[in-house]
Amino acid sequence: MGLTLTEKILASHQVQGHLARGSEIAIRIDQCLTQDSLGTMAWLQFESLRLPRVRCETVVSYVDHTTMAFHGENTDDHFFLQSASRRFGAYYSKAGNGICHQVHRERFAVPGQTLLGSDSHTPTAGAVGMLAFGAGSADVAAAMAGGPFWMRVPRVFRIFLEGTLPWGVSAKDAALELLRRLSVKGAAGAVLEFDGPGLSGLNVDERATLANMGCETGALSSIFPCDGVTRAYFDLQGRAVSCQLAADADAEYDREIRIDLSALEPMAAMPGSPDNVVPVSQVEGYDVHQVYLGSCTNGSYTDLTRGAALLKGVHVHDRLDCILSPGSRQVELALLEDGSYAAYVDAGFRMVEPGCHACIGAGFVPGHGHVSVRTINRNWFGRSGSKDAFVILTSVETAVATALAGHLADPRKLPRDAGKRFALDALPRESVLLIAPLHETDAARVEIRRAPNIVSLRPQSPPPDLLRGEVLIKTGDGISTDDILPAGPLTRHLRSNLPAISMYVFHNLDRTFVRRASEKGGGFIVGGENFGMGVPREHAALGPWHLGIRAVLARSFDHAFRSLLVNNGIWPLLADTSDLDFGDVLEIDMRSGEAGRFTAHNFTQDRSFTVSADLSERDLEIVRHGGLLAHTKKMVS
Ligand code: F3S
Repeated sequence: MGLTLTEKILASHQVQGHLARGSEIAIRIDQCLTQDSLGTMAWLQFESLRLPRVRCETVVSYVDHTTMAFHGENTDDHFFLQSASRRFGAYYSKAGNGICHQVHRERFAVPGQTLLGSDSHTPTAGAVGMLAFGAGSADVAAAMAGGPFWMRVPRVFRIFLEGTLPWGVSAKDAALELLRRLSVKGAAGAVLEFDGPGLSGLNVDERATLANMGCETGALSSIFPCDGVTRAYFDLQGRAVSCQLAADADAEYDREIRIDLSALEPMAAMPGSPDNVVPVSQVEGYDVHQVYLGSCTNGSYTDLTRGAALLKGVHVHDRLDCILSPGSRQVELALLEDGSYAAYVDAGFRMVEPGCHACIGAGFVPGHGHVSVRTINRNWFGRSGSKDAFVILTSVETAVATALAGHLADPRKLPRDAGKRFALDALPRESVLLIAPLHETDAARVEIRRAPNIVSLRPQSPPPDLLRGEVLIKTGDGISTDDILPAGPLTRHLRSNLPAISMYVFHNLDRTFVRRASEKGGGFIVGGENFGMGVPREHAALGPWHLGIRAVLARSFDHAFRSLLVNNGIWPLLADTSDLDFGDVLEIDMRSGEAGRFTAHNFTQDRSFTVSADLSERDLEIVRHGGLLAHTKKMVS
């Protein structure tokens, strides 16, 4: 039996485990990326390992999420990241250089290599045949230290593309069609492998849109073969990358989905969820207040020149606020060089430096009840910075047609030869805002710039064998990471300051929790089903750890959150929690576990019960060491 492309790359990077679907495997990581939102914690965690330099081939620290620095703490983060990159041998991509996934594809991605990033859209690099995963900051810190990345061998879905996209229809519409079919859960834990004759008509920018939005289906990663199209992209970038990478003809997939690109039409994900997808033709005329072009999904040169080609001699509608942020400085310079930047300015677009901006509600927050058409990848209520606003996801072409019409509009109704075609033979290659790593000798002299909001981490230490304490909180089912530690404006500027951000643990559920946990030096959290669901945020595990929590008891855990607890030295224990009450005093003997089962005693109710840790041998070892960093330190030193 032949191998999928995913299996080939996993096999070439395997350092431990067994390459069979569902088995645990450890792979070597060739490259790591961090960004300024979650990356500061990854660097603090790396620093806690006390290593002189990163041990991964290429590490790049990007500033893209908070480029506008609405808080002084954001600027402090940027300076910390810059000095940490210089000190530890990483590239540093300054604010304004672009969004990590766009810049990484342009400058660093290598077909056949592996990439781990502290951002969920890291799989965008799969557009050029790189196997890339988003992960928690502790996983990324461990990989930067040269440790392997452990994962379960994923299922692989074949996305077979045929036909050619019609005029006015783009790769974003294909991505939305995929979401319509798979939903936001349909590819959970799988890798999407794109294949078929339709690939020859999709350039790397278009492939990147598909790889990027694969994340919205729940996929772990997405990957394209490396073919003539990929090589042409690297030529345009002036990077000599030779490759020929594809799945074997007799590879076996867990599922196959066929999409005829020729039959697609412009699509829109209506407010609330990226899989709330309908054809634009069904919702044409929908009232709109704002249009935003850009993000790591649609901030590419291909996307933005196609949008510009629709703009000759026309202006955006008087009623609309229209904004454009190129995906990278390279894209920005290319748009300036070929005249398409001027086309947008002439048409009435407001131009903003490359960065994430509106995609995470960092500026351009829509008004109360307003509708914003955006070329980004997520449209949950609240992500735009306002819970009272409505975000519709579309292609650049649909967004530009909307900007001109003043309401949601179908780009196929615009004249085909509306404007000039834009194209360059080579993309700009200057990298003023990309700082290369220092030589070891110079790096060793760099002092890390640490403002008061940048707080070093305590090293992880093993939890006691006998866990004793009070039940500090008892929650219901479906507690999310946001319930554990709220994200957003309240805490966004505190991510490098664990003592400060920990003050918000369970802020929205019980404002006495932090005080009681601090006074008692820790205790137990008790939950129901699916504890820790939602976006897997490292701080939702780090916060409780900082307050001395060493075990969470629940009927079930969200899979990704359970890993975060393990990585941070907290026992995720399965138990029938219905009989446990707030204030109960418990003792759990973690030495007694046969087959992962442990004896617990409830002193308040005077009864014993059993808890279990459904963990692999390696996970058990990690918790006993005190967390992934302590474990990695032992392995690499
Ligand atoms: Fe940035 Fe939005 Fe992408 S926050 S990394 S542009 S998903």
